[in-house]
Amino acid sequence: MAAVGRPRRSCLAVPGSSVKMLDKAQGLPADQVFLDLEDAVAPLAKPEARKNIVAALNEGDWGGKTRVVRVNDMTTAWTYRDVVEVVEGAGENLDCIMLPKVQTAGHVEWLDLTLTQIEKTLGLPVGRIGIEAQIENAAGLVNVDAIAAASPRVETIIFGPADFMASINMKSLAVGALHPDYPGDPYHYILMRILMAARMHDKQAIDGPFLQIRDVDGFREVAKLSAALGFDGKWVLHPGQIDAANEVYSPAQEDYDHAELILDAYEHYTSEAGGRLGAVMLGDEMIDEASRKMALVIAAKGRAAGMSRTSRFTPPQG
Ligand code: GLV
Ligand code: MG
Repeated sequence: MAAVGRPRRSCLAVPGSSVKMLDKAQGLPADQVFLDLEDAVAPLAKPEARKNIVAALNEGDWGGKTRVVRVNDMTTAWTYRDVVEVVEGAGENLDCIMLPKVQTAGHVEWLDLTLTQIEKTLGLPVGRIGIEAQIENAAGLVNVDAIAAASPRVETIIFGPADFMASINMKSLAVGALHPDYPGDPYHYILMRILMAARMHDKQAIDGPFLQIRDVDGFREVAKLSAALGFDGKWVLHPGQIDAANEVYSPAQEDYDHAELILDAYEHYTSEAGGRLGAVMLGDEMIDEASRKMALVIAAKGRAAGMSRTSRFTPPQG
């Protein structure tokens, strides 16, 4: 089964048609890159983009980033050639295929079976290449549980706001931004729906792009909304958005320290030496088994982000 735990706070989009950007992206501090064959590449440029991507994966130095290629969606004539050419050409240097506009579990099943055939042909371990599924229309959202469950290769469920807005006739062109006429977050239901499917099936939930690439404060505000719900990361379209994404989807230092403190304190108090207690006070706060579970989530995110503790728990004497 493909690993699901790779860090993905920032997922950088790189058009496969631009050799310059494929080169530059390698040195940027994004957790993940996805080399695009879909909407950032014009139809006539797709055959060349496939070749650029294979060369960039095989010859580039991606420095431990998760390497993903976004192929074209299943309603086009390009998908099978995208998958065959990229995976046959660079399967050993590729972590996942991203499938856009997924509408049914069948789309994922097709990709799973095709990847299995290519892996067998190449002698690669079957199941090593993961799948990222983009939810970009009403059908995809209605079927998101089945999509998440369609293959053990599925690592992430991704919200694609631009296509989604178009598909449901949303009256806005400001992708990923709040709407002045709507007294709330118009994406709340969609984000929550995706998050529930992702968590039910132990997948990562990833938020999509924010197109105003020079407005980093705007990016940060929108990112904070999905991060607050529990999303694991967000797309970045420009190097200027990477640090903001890495920061927003990591815990604050104070929260990370607090989470580690809760884990240590709870371990101590539930032990023989600590009195075998189930609910105890940590400062002014009562902690119990549910607190431990919440603390585990924050601590895991902090550890995955490489954070260090700035405080320690000392058991009371006597
Ligand atoms: C991304 O693919 C989007 O449609 O927002
Ligand atoms: Mg899209």
